[in-house]
Amino acid sequence: MFARILCLLSIIALCGFAPLDYRIYAPEAKRIVERMTLEEKIGQMTLPSIDMIYHDGGLSVIRQDKLGAVLAEGDTVPPQGPELKNWQALAEAMKKQATFPLLLGTDAVHGNQHVANAVIFPHNIGLGAAHDPELINAIASWTAYDVEQSGFNWIFAPTVAAAHDYRWGRTYESFASDPALIKQYANAYVQGAQLIANNRITGALTSTKHFIGDGNTDAGIDEGNDTVLNDEQFLKDNYPGYIGAFEASTGNVMVSYSSINGLPMSINKKMLQKYLLPYFSGFVVSDYGAIEKAAIKVKRPYAKVLADAINSGIDMIMLTNEFPQLYTSIAQFQQILLKDVENGLISKRRIDEAVVNIIQVKLAMGLLDKNNLPMSKPPGDENQIALQAAEESLVLLKNNRVLPVDPNKLKQVILLGDAVDDIGSQCGGWRIVWQGKKGNQYTDNRATSILMGIRNNVGNKVNIIVNDLPASYTHHDTIAIVVLAEFPYAEYLGDVGNNNPLYNHIRNPYAPTFEPKDLVVHYDKTIEKRIQQLKAAGVPVITVLLSGRPMVISAGATSPLRLSSAFIAAWLPGTTGGQAIANAIFGQYHFRQISQTNTLTFAWPASMQQVGQLFCARSGKKPKPLFDCGFGLSD
Ligand code: BGC
Repeated sequence: MFARILCLLSIIALCGFAPLDYRIYAPEAKRIVERMTLEEKIGQMTLPSIDMIYHDGGLSVIRQDKLGAVLAEGDTVPPQGPELKNWQALAEAMKKQATFPLLLGTDAVHGNQHVANAVIFPHNIGLGAAHDPELINAIASWTAYDVEQSGFNWIFAPTVAAAHDYRWGRTYESFASDPALIKQYANAYVQGAQLIANNRITGALTSTKHFIGDGNTDAGIDEGNDTVLNDEQFLKDNYPGYIGAFEASTGNVMVSYSSINGLPMSINKKMLQKYLLPYFSGFVVSDYGAIEKAAIKVKRPYAKVLADAINSGIDMIMLTNEFPQLYTSIAQFQQILLKDVENGLISKRRIDEAVVNIIQVKLAMGLLDKNNLPMSKPPGDENQIALQAAEESLVLLKNNRVLPVDPNKLKQVILLGDAVDDIGSQCGGWRIVWQGKKGNQYTDNRATSILMGIRNNVGNKVNIIVNDLPASYTHHDTIAIVVLAEFPYAEYLGDVGNNNPLYNHIRNPYAPTFEPKDLVVHYDKTIEKRIQQLKAAGVPVITVLLSGRPMVISAGATSPLRLSSAFIAAWLPGTTGGQAIANAIFGQYHFRQISQTNTLTFAWPASMQQVGQLFCARSGKKPKPLFDCGFGLSD
């Protein structure tokens, strides 16, 4: 009932949308810019991380360098810890230093993930499988609310990449391999997060990313090159998400690290000026250290590449301290930019234009309005919404008349696998820290691991045995649930077979290096032995896969798909994932009870050879996948 009311409210919100042209704020923005010094303008165009600010001497750097924006980078944690009150205090302290209202950006890509105990929603790949734009709209509103509560106002989401190759470590940030769906979901997300009303952003600013082709690189290499032979096909595959976000008036777009035919997007004037700037009136930001990396890639002086990026249409530069050979402080970066203007590499007109673009959005956000009201709480219950999303995201790939299980007929449940009690593995990357972390730390009692969810559902008459076999079991009274999980990961480190030495310095201690064999899922030897014993007694085995991408599950005679009576692809379902999985196993939730929920938006590979060949929207000759897009059983 609740869900229905929520949907109704959201549909009304989606239907009644009036787009916002940020240029209505141009006259006021221009008046402000006219009164600014060149240094102040450069301050508006500089986006350093909190870590860089501390590195340069502390929060007073915000005042000294006249900063207009700051970001929490992947691993930023307030000195006192990641609890909400510490983030609030940090945001307040930063705002106090500001000489002009600050944009405070954060990678809230599946909820306000930097903050301890935040509700974490399924990653986009799961939201895609849920096929529920109203729900995405509601999730975006709650994320914006949580971000605003923590004192921030700018979400680096949605990612509208169309992932083409599952070796890409950001596949899970992609909604679908059907660009029409990405368009729809991007639109729903931006509307839900920004909540535009009366030409004002009443929620949080969105950064639609990464323009363009981040998910289409050769061999799925993060930040790699897109070999584009046919522009029309490239746009067909990778552009619709942006159209969805433009139609919802996203106030910001982030430019991709990736290149097209060798030319980094940050300096790809043609693509930015032809397909981005004419359709969008917000401001454009570069990715973290992207100009620095572009300069290294094209082997040209940084100052020149910086000028090219700004002249191509980038208004704000996201800095990094990863390349001390280029600059070692925020002030030093600003000097380089200042010199570019003095040397005529960037015109004063272009600087004014960039700053007007930024300030227009700040005006639309009400940041300059002393009476700006705080964002109101979205309708519904956040944790229920997360649970509904996690339930709808699960895809049932096999069911030999096992699901749903009636707990009243059971005496015992055997749980096998490392991640049976691991909320960190359910959340995946971009949680508290950049690459994510295994374990149940940073959660409150709203979060459930699979073990906790099962306990909630089977009651105390049923025995739960974890990573062991009981003395006796029969198929009448016992089921086994095996949880397989990828180690949490995020960008670059989650790539499979990406041995780029550029990443070696960050590779450890975060995550293992993923090799092609890691995309082929097997049970480990102990689990396999136990499963064989259980199967000999006819005990049904249900396998749940927590993963950021479709993986090979059907290789060989002892493959997980073959040995399981039922198989659920659970993606990265977030903090309510454990309860969602338990609900689906014990019949509190039924797969596909509503139209299209619980179906694949990425085709499932039959072999390792297929991981880069299954893009769903592509017509023509393709290999036959194990399960095609749209697949998902009901129970
Ligand atoms: C990622 C972006 C992210 C940014 C800020 C980059 O490395 O590509 O998606 O928003 O970092 O954390």
